[in-house]
Amino acid sequence: MSAPNNTYDPVRVAALAPAEVDRMTREAVEAIAAAGTLDELRAASLAHLGRHAPLTLAGAEIGALPPQARAEAGRRIGAAKQRVAQAQAARQAELEAERDARVLVDEVADVTLPWDRQPAGARHPVMTLADRLADVFIGMGYEIAEGPEVEAEWFNFDALNFPPDHPARETQDSFFVAGPHGRRSGMVLRTHTSPVQIRAMLSRPLPLYVVSPGRCFRSDTLDATHSPVFHQMEALAVDEGLTMADLRGAISAFVEALFGPGLRTRLRPDFFPFTEPSADVSMECHVCRGASALPGGAPCRVCKSQGWVEIAGCGMVNPRVLRACGIDPGRYSGFAFGLGIERSLMIRSGLADIRDTIEGDVRFSRAFGVEE
Ligand code: DAH
Repeated sequence: MSAPNNTYDPVRVAALAPAEVDRMTREAVEAIAAAGTLDELRAASLAHLGRHAPLTLAGAEIGALPPQARAEAGRRIGAAKQRVAQAQAARQAELEAERDARVLVDEVADVTLPWDRQPAGARHPVMTLADRLADVFIGMGYEIAEGPEVEAEWFNFDALNFPPDHPARETQDSFFVAGPHGRRSGMVLRTHTSPVQIRAMLSRPLPLYVVSPGRCFRSDTLDATHSPVFHQMEALAVDEGLTMADLRGAISAFVEALFGPGLRTRLRPDFFPFTEPSADVSMECHVCRGASALPGGAPCRVCKSQGWVEIAGCGMVNPRVLRACGIDPGRYSGFAFGLGIERSLMIRSGLADIRDTIEGDVRFSRAFGVEE
Protein backbone atom coordinates (compact mmCIF):
# COMPACT_ATOMS: atom_id res chain seq x y z
CA MET A 1 0.00 0.00 0.00
CA SER A 2 1.35 3.43 -0.83
CA ALA A 3 1.22 6.21 1.65
CA PRO A 4 -1.80 8.49 1.65
CA ASN A 5 -1.43 11.30 -0.85
CA ASN A 6 -1.58 14.36 1.32
CA THR A 7 -0.70 16.87 -1.41
CA TYR A 8 -3.50 15.90 -3.79
CA ASP A 9 -5.29 19.08 -4.81
CA PRO A 10 -8.33 18.56 -7.09
CA VAL A 11 -8.31 22.19 -8.21
CA ARG A 12 -4.66 22.15 -9.35
CA VAL A 13 -5.06 18.96 -11.37
CA ALA A 14 -8.40 19.89 -12.99
CA ALA A 15 -6.39 20.66 -16.14
CA LEU A 16 -5.54 16.97 -16.44
CA ALA A 17 -9.20 15.82 -16.63
CA PRO A 18 -9.87 13.99 -19.94
CA ALA A 19 -12.50 16.54 -21.05
CA GLU A 20 -10.14 19.42 -20.34
CA VAL A 21 -7.22 17.78 -22.17
CA ASP A 22 -9.54 17.13 -25.14
CA ARG A 23 -10.62 20.76 -25.18
CA MET A 24 -7.02 22.02 -25.11
CA THR A 25 -6.06 19.61 -27.86
CA ARG A 26 -8.99 20.65 -30.04
CA GLU A 27 -8.14 24.32 -29.55
CA ALA A 28 -4.52 23.68 -30.48
CA VAL A 29 -5.37 21.68 -33.59
CA GLU A 30 -7.87 24.32 -34.71
CA ALA A 31 -5.38 27.16 -34.22
CA ILE A 32 -2.80 25.26 -36.24
CA ALA A 33 -5.26 24.52 -39.03
CA ALA A 34 -6.25 28.17 -39.12
CA ALA A 35 -2.67 29.37 -39.66
CA GLY A 36 -2.58 30.85 -43.17
CA THR A 37 1.15 31.51 -43.38
CA LEU A 38 4.33 29.97 -42.06
CA ASP A 39 4.72 32.89 -39.68
CA GLU A 40 1.22 32.39 -38.30
CA LEU A 41 1.95 28.68 -37.93
CA ARG A 42 5.11 29.44 -36.00
CA ALA A 43 3.10 31.64 -33.61
CA ALA A 44 0.36 29.00 -33.19
CA SER A 45 2.93 26.27 -32.50
CA LEU A 46 4.61 28.38 -29.87
CA ALA A 47 1.26 29.12 -28.21
CA HIS A 48 0.14 25.47 -28.18
CA LEU A 49 3.36 23.46 -27.95
CA GLY A 50 5.74 25.90 -26.30
CA ARG A 51 6.85 26.22 -22.70
CA HIS A 52 3.79 28.25 -21.74
CA ALA A 53 1.25 26.27 -23.80
CA PRO A 54 -1.83 25.01 -21.82
CA LEU A 55 -0.90 21.36 -22.49
CA THR A 56 2.66 21.89 -21.27
CA LEU A 57 1.46 23.62 -18.14
CA ALA A 58 -1.08 20.84 -17.52
CA GLY A 59 1.70 18.24 -17.88
CA ALA A 60 3.62 20.05 -15.15
CA GLU A 61 0.78 19.26 -12.75
CA ILE A 62 1.10 15.47 -13.12
CA GLY A 63 3.24 15.32 -9.98
CA ALA A 64 0.34 16.73 -8.01
CA LEU A 65 -1.84 13.67 -8.78
CA PRO A 66 -2.09 10.62 -6.55
CA PRO A 67 0.64 8.21 -7.78
CA GLN A 68 -1.77 5.64 -9.19
CA ALA A 69 -3.33 8.30 -11.43
CA ARG A 70 -0.05 9.71 -12.77
CA ALA A 71 0.72 7.17 -15.49
CA GLU A 72 -2.62 7.51 -17.17
CA ALA A 73 -2.56 11.29 -17.03
CA GLY A 74 0.97 11.21 -18.46
CA ARG A 75 -0.18 9.08 -21.38
CA ARG A 76 -3.14 11.37 -21.97
CA ILE A 77 -0.97 14.50 -22.10
CA GLY A 78 1.64 12.68 -24.23
CA ALA A 79 -0.97 11.55 -26.74
CA ALA A 80 -2.49 15.02 -26.86
CA LYS A 81 0.87 16.66 -27.51
CA GLN A 82 1.62 14.14 -30.21
CA ARG A 83 -1.67 14.91 -31.98
CA VAL A 84 -0.92 18.60 -31.87
CA ALA A 85 2.63 17.99 -33.12
CA GLN A 86 1.30 15.87 -35.99
CA ALA A 87 -1.20 18.59 -36.90
CA GLN A 88 1.65 21.10 -36.82
CA ALA A 89 3.87 18.98 -39.07
CA ALA A 90 1.05 18.39 -41.54
CA ARG A 91 0.16 22.08 -41.74
CA GLN A 92 3.82 23.01 -42.07
CA ALA A 93 4.17 20.67 -45.04
CA GLU A 94 1.04 22.15 -46.67
CA LEU A 95 2.16 25.74 -46.19
CA GLU A 96 5.67 25.03 -47.46
CA ALA A 97 4.28 23.33 -50.54
CA GLU A 98 2.03 26.35 -51.17
CA ARG A 99 4.98 28.72 -50.74
CA ASP A 100 7.15 26.73 -53.14
CA ALA A 101 4.39 26.66 -55.74
CA ARG A 102 3.92 30.41 -55.38
CA VAL A 103 7.64 31.13 -55.75
CA LEU A 104 7.71 29.12 -58.94
CA VAL A 105 4.95 31.29 -60.37
CA ASP A 106 6.13 34.64 -58.97
CA GLU A 107 9.75 34.21 -59.91
CA VAL A 108 9.26 32.60 -63.23
CA ALA A 109 11.70 33.81 -65.85
CA ASP A 110 10.61 33.64 -69.44
CA VAL A 111 13.91 32.96 -71.13
CA THR A 112 12.34 33.51 -74.53
CA LEU A 113 11.71 37.23 -73.85
CA PRO A 114 13.96 39.67 -75.75
CA TRP A 115 16.78 40.76 -73.44
CA ASP A 116 18.07 43.78 -75.31
CA ARG A 117 14.97 45.96 -75.38
CA GLN A 118 15.65 48.19 -72.38
CA PRO A 119 14.95 51.79 -73.32
CA ALA A 120 18.22 53.68 -73.70
CA GLY A 121 18.51 56.76 -71.46
CA ALA A 122 19.08 60.15 -73.00
CA ARG A 123 21.68 62.75 -72.09
CA HIS A 124 20.11 65.92 -70.84
CA PRO A 125 20.12 68.53 -73.60
CA VAL A 126 21.44 71.18 -71.18
CA MET A 127 24.52 69.02 -70.60
CA THR A 128 24.90 68.27 -74.28
CA LEU A 129 24.77 71.97 -75.12
CA ALA A 130 27.17 72.87 -72.29
CA ASP A 131 29.69 70.38 -73.70
CA ARG A 132 29.23 71.72 -77.20
CA LEU A 133 29.72 75.31 -76.11
CA ALA A 134 32.85 74.37 -74.22
CA ASP A 135 34.11 72.39 -77.22
CA VAL A 136 33.89 75.46 -79.44
CA PHE A 137 36.31 77.22 -77.10
CA ILE A 138 38.54 74.24 -76.56
CA GLY A 139 38.89 74.24 -80.34
CA MET A 140 40.17 77.84 -80.07
CA GLY A 141 42.77 76.91 -77.44
CA TYR A 142 40.82 77.64 -74.26
CA GLU A 143 41.00 75.38 -71.20
CA ILE A 144 38.15 74.31 -68.93
CA ALA A 145 38.25 75.86 -65.45
CA GLU A 146 35.95 74.88 -62.63
CA GLY A 147 34.95 76.23 -59.25
CA PRO A 148 32.76 75.17 -56.34
CA GLU A 149 29.00 75.63 -56.28
CA VAL A 150 29.12 76.67 -52.61
CA GLU A 151 31.39 79.67 -53.02
CA ALA A 152 32.98 82.23 -50.73
CA GLU A 153 31.20 85.57 -50.95
CA TRP A 154 34.62 87.09 -51.62
CA PHE A 155 34.94 85.19 -54.91
CA ASN A 156 31.29 85.58 -55.88
CA PHE A 157 31.11 89.33 -55.13
CA ASP A 158 34.04 91.20 -53.55
CA ALA A 159 36.80 90.19 -55.93
CA LEU A 160 34.40 90.88 -58.80
CA ASN A 161 34.12 94.48 -57.61
CA PHE A 162 30.62 94.25 -56.13
CA PRO A 163 30.94 96.84 -53.32
CA PRO A 164 30.09 95.59 -49.80
CA ASP A 165 26.43 96.15 -48.90
CA HIS A 166 25.79 97.26 -52.43
CA PRO A 167 22.30 96.36 -53.65
CA ALA A 168 23.90 94.54 -56.58
CA ARG A 169 24.49 91.61 -54.22
CA GLU A 170 20.82 91.43 -53.40
CA THR A 171 19.75 91.92 -57.00
CA GLN A 172 21.37 88.60 -57.74
CA ASP A 173 18.83 87.10 -55.28
CA SER A 174 21.47 85.09 -53.51
CA PHE A 175 21.07 82.00 -51.39
CA PHE A 176 23.43 82.84 -48.53
CA VAL A 177 24.66 79.93 -46.44
CA ALA A 178 23.78 80.39 -42.76
CA GLY A 179 26.60 80.17 -40.24
CA PRO A 180 26.43 79.29 -36.53
CA HIS A 181 23.76 81.12 -34.47
CA GLY A 182 22.03 82.40 -37.60
CA ARG A 183 24.99 84.58 -38.53
CA ARG A 184 26.30 84.71 -42.08
CA SER A 185 28.96 82.17 -42.90
CA GLY A 186 30.59 84.19 -45.66
CA MET A 187 29.51 81.49 -48.11
CA VAL A 188 26.90 81.69 -50.84
CA LEU A 189 25.54 79.33 -53.48
CA ARG A 190 27.29 80.90 -56.46
CA THR A 191 24.93 83.20 -58.32
CA HIS A 192 26.97 83.09 -61.53
CA THR A 193 30.04 81.40 -62.97
CA SER A 194 32.05 84.65 -62.84
CA PRO A 195 33.81 83.69 -59.55
CA VAL A 196 35.61 81.01 -61.55
CA GLN A 197 37.32 83.92 -63.38
CA ILE A 198 38.88 84.96 -60.09
CA ARG A 199 39.94 81.43 -59.20
CA ALA A 200 41.50 81.01 -62.65
CA MET A 201 43.39 84.34 -62.47
CA LEU A 202 44.70 83.52 -59.00
CA SER A 203 45.86 80.04 -59.82
CA ARG A 204 46.94 79.91 -63.46
CA PRO A 205 49.88 81.43 -65.28
CA LEU A 206 49.34 84.19 -67.82
CA PRO A 207 48.32 84.40 -70.59
CA LEU A 208 45.05 82.83 -69.67
CA TYR A 209 42.21 81.51 -71.84
CA VAL A 210 39.51 79.58 -69.95
CA VAL A 211 35.86 78.58 -70.19
CA SER A 212 33.79 77.55 -67.19
CA PRO A 213 30.45 75.86 -67.59
CA GLY A 214 28.64 75.25 -64.33
CA ARG A 215 25.57 75.26 -62.15
CA CYS A 216 24.35 78.48 -60.51
CA PHE A 217 21.65 79.35 -58.00
CA ARG A 218 19.37 82.32 -57.41
CA SER A 219 16.33 82.57 -55.18
CA ASP A 220 14.03 83.16 -58.14
CA THR A 221 10.57 81.67 -58.24
CA LEU A 222 10.22 78.97 -60.84
CA ASP A 223 8.25 80.20 -63.83
CA ALA A 224 8.41 79.91 -67.61
CA THR A 225 11.64 81.92 -67.85
CA HIS A 226 13.26 81.62 -64.39
CA SER A 227 14.62 78.72 -62.44
CA PRO A 228 16.39 78.87 -59.06
CA VAL A 229 18.94 76.37 -60.38
CA PHE A 230 20.38 76.95 -63.83
CA HIS A 231 23.63 76.76 -65.78
CA GLN A 232 25.94 79.40 -67.12
CA MET A 233 29.10 79.43 -69.10
CA GLU A 234 31.83 81.96 -68.62
CA ALA A 235 34.70 82.73 -70.97
CA LEU A 236 37.76 84.67 -69.85
CA ALA A 237 40.90 85.71 -71.66
CA VAL A 238 43.76 87.65 -70.07
CA ASP A 239 46.74 88.49 -72.24
CA GLU A 240 48.89 91.39 -73.36
CA GLY A 241 47.16 93.74 -75.75
CA LEU A 242 43.63 92.26 -75.76
CA THR A 243 40.95 94.70 -76.88
CA MET A 244 37.20 94.80 -77.47
CA ALA A 245 37.93 93.68 -81.01
CA ASP A 246 39.22 90.36 -79.65
CA LEU A 247 36.10 90.07 -77.52
CA ARG A 248 33.90 90.61 -80.55
CA GLY A 249 35.87 88.07 -82.52
CA ALA A 250 35.47 85.44 -79.82
CA ILE A 251 31.74 86.10 -79.58
CA SER A 252 31.26 85.90 -83.35
CA ALA A 253 33.15 82.62 -83.50
CA PHE A 254 31.00 81.28 -80.76
CA VAL A 255 27.68 82.36 -82.34
CA GLU A 256 28.78 80.95 -85.65
CA ALA A 257 29.69 77.59 -84.14
CA LEU A 258 26.38 77.36 -82.42
CA PHE A 259 23.89 78.80 -84.88
CA GLY A 260 25.70 78.66 -88.20
CA PRO A 261 27.64 81.21 -90.26
CA GLY A 262 26.57 84.68 -91.29
CA LEU A 263 24.67 85.80 -88.21
CA ARG A 264 25.55 89.31 -87.11
CA THR A 265 26.22 90.13 -83.47
CA ARG A 266 25.56 93.40 -81.69
CA LEU A 267 27.04 94.84 -78.49
CA ARG A 268 25.13 97.48 -76.55
CA PRO A 269 26.45 99.31 -73.47
CA ASP A 270 25.48 97.73 -70.19
CA PHE A 271 26.85 97.63 -66.65
CA PHE A 272 28.57 94.86 -64.72
CA PRO A 273 30.84 95.69 -61.79
CA PHE A 274 33.54 93.29 -63.00
CA THR A 275 33.86 94.61 -66.55
CA GLU A 276 34.57 98.09 -67.85
CA PRO A 277 33.31 98.83 -70.39
CA SER A 278 30.47 96.29 -70.27
CA ALA A 279 27.99 95.30 -72.93
CA ASP A 280 25.13 92.99 -73.58
CA VAL A 281 25.47 90.73 -76.58
CA SER A 282 22.67 90.11 -79.02
CA MET A 283 22.71 88.11 -82.20
CA GLU A 284 20.61 88.42 -85.25
CA CYS A 285 17.58 86.14 -84.85
CA HIS A 286 18.56 82.82 -86.39
CA VAL A 287 14.93 82.05 -87.27
CA CYS A 288 13.69 85.19 -89.05
CA ARG A 289 17.15 86.73 -89.64
CA GLY A 290 15.67 90.09 -88.72
CA ALA A 291 12.81 89.95 -91.21
CA SER A 292 10.13 90.06 -88.50
CA ALA A 293 11.33 93.51 -87.41
CA LEU A 294 10.97 95.00 -90.89
CA PRO A 295 7.71 96.67 -91.96
CA GLY A 296 5.27 93.96 -93.10
CA GLY A 297 7.49 91.12 -91.76
CA ALA A 298 5.79 87.99 -90.42
CA PRO A 299 5.88 87.85 -86.60
CA CYS A 300 8.67 85.75 -85.04
CA ARG A 301 8.23 83.78 -81.82
CA VAL A 302 11.93 83.39 -81.06
CA CYS A 303 12.94 87.08 -81.11
CA LYS A 304 9.43 88.41 -80.39
CA SER A 305 9.75 90.23 -83.71
CA GLN A 306 12.70 92.29 -82.46
CA GLY A 307 15.06 90.83 -85.04
CA TRP A 308 17.69 90.31 -82.33
CA VAL A 309 18.01 87.98 -79.34
CA GLU A 310 20.06 88.76 -76.25
CA ILE A 311 22.46 85.94 -75.51
CA ALA A 312 25.18 87.09 -73.14
CA GLY A 313 26.79 89.76 -71.00
CA CYS A 314 30.37 90.76 -71.71
CA GLY A 315 33.08 93.34 -71.29
CA MET A 316 36.73 94.12 -70.71
CA VAL A 317 37.85 92.83 -67.31
CA ASN A 318 37.74 95.75 -64.87
CA PRO A 319 41.31 96.77 -63.88
CA ARG A 320 40.22 96.60 -60.24
CA VAL A 321 39.41 92.91 -60.74
CA LEU A 322 42.79 92.30 -62.36
CA ARG A 323 44.48 94.08 -59.46
CA ALA A 324 42.50 92.02 -56.88
CA CYS A 325 44.05 88.96 -58.55
CA GLY A 326 47.57 90.38 -58.50
CA ILE A 327 47.65 91.12 -62.24
CA ASP A 328 49.18 94.37 -63.47
CA PRO A 329 46.50 96.17 -65.54
CA GLY A 330 49.25 98.31 -67.05
CA ARG A 331 50.60 95.24 -68.82
CA TYR A 332 47.65 92.89 -69.19
CA SER A 333 44.08 93.33 -70.29
CA GLY A 334 41.27 90.83 -70.42
CA PHE A 335 37.84 90.20 -71.83
CA ALA A 336 35.06 88.07 -70.45
CA PHE A 337 31.56 87.01 -71.25
CA GLY A 338 28.92 84.91 -69.60
CA LEU A 339 25.73 83.32 -70.80
CA GLY A 340 22.88 81.17 -69.57
CA ILE A 341 22.92 77.66 -71.00
CA GLU A 342 19.19 76.99 -70.51
CA ARG A 343 18.50 80.31 -72.19
CA SER A 344 20.78 79.44 -75.12
CA LEU A 345 19.03 76.09 -75.42
CA MET A 346 15.63 77.76 -75.41
CA ILE A 347 16.68 80.18 -78.14
CA ARG A 348 18.39 77.53 -80.20
CA SER A 349 15.59 74.97 -79.95
CA GLY A 350 12.60 77.29 -79.76
CA LEU A 351 11.53 76.24 -76.24
CA ALA A 352 8.95 78.45 -74.56
CA ASP A 353 9.23 77.14 -71.00
CA ILE A 354 12.42 76.62 -68.97
CA ARG A 355 10.52 74.15 -66.77
CA ASP A 356 10.73 71.62 -69.60
CA THR A 357 14.47 71.47 -68.91
CA ILE A 358 14.15 70.58 -65.24
CA GLU A 359 11.25 68.17 -65.06
CA GLY A 360 13.39 65.17 -65.97
CA ASP A 361 10.90 63.73 -68.47
CA VAL A 362 12.96 61.46 -70.69
CA ARG A 363 10.60 62.11 -73.60
CA PHE A 364 11.81 65.70 -73.60
CA SER A 365 15.48 64.71 -73.53
CA ARG A 366 15.02 62.01 -76.11
CA ALA A 367 13.61 64.50 -78.61
CA PHE A 368 17.09 66.04 -78.76
CA GLY A 369 18.65 62.73 -79.68
CA VAL A 370 21.32 60.95 -77.69
CA GLU A 371 24.73 62.51 -78.20
CA GLU A 372 27.96 61.11 -76.86
N1 DAH B 1 27.85 87.14 -64.42
C1 DAH B 1 26.86 87.87 -65.20
C2 DAH B 1 25.47 87.46 -64.76
O1 DAH B 1 25.30 86.44 -64.21
C3 DAH B 1 27.04 87.58 -66.66
C4 DAH B 1 28.29 88.18 -67.20
C5 DAH B 1 28.29 89.47 -67.67
C6 DAH B 1 29.47 87.48 -67.22
C7 DAH B 1 29.45 90.07 -68.17
C8 DAH B 1 30.64 88.04 -67.74
C9 DAH B 1 30.59 89.33 -68.20
O2 DAH B 1 31.77 87.37 -67.79
O3 DAH B 1 31.72 89.88 -68.70
O4 DAH B 1 24.55 88.18 -65.00
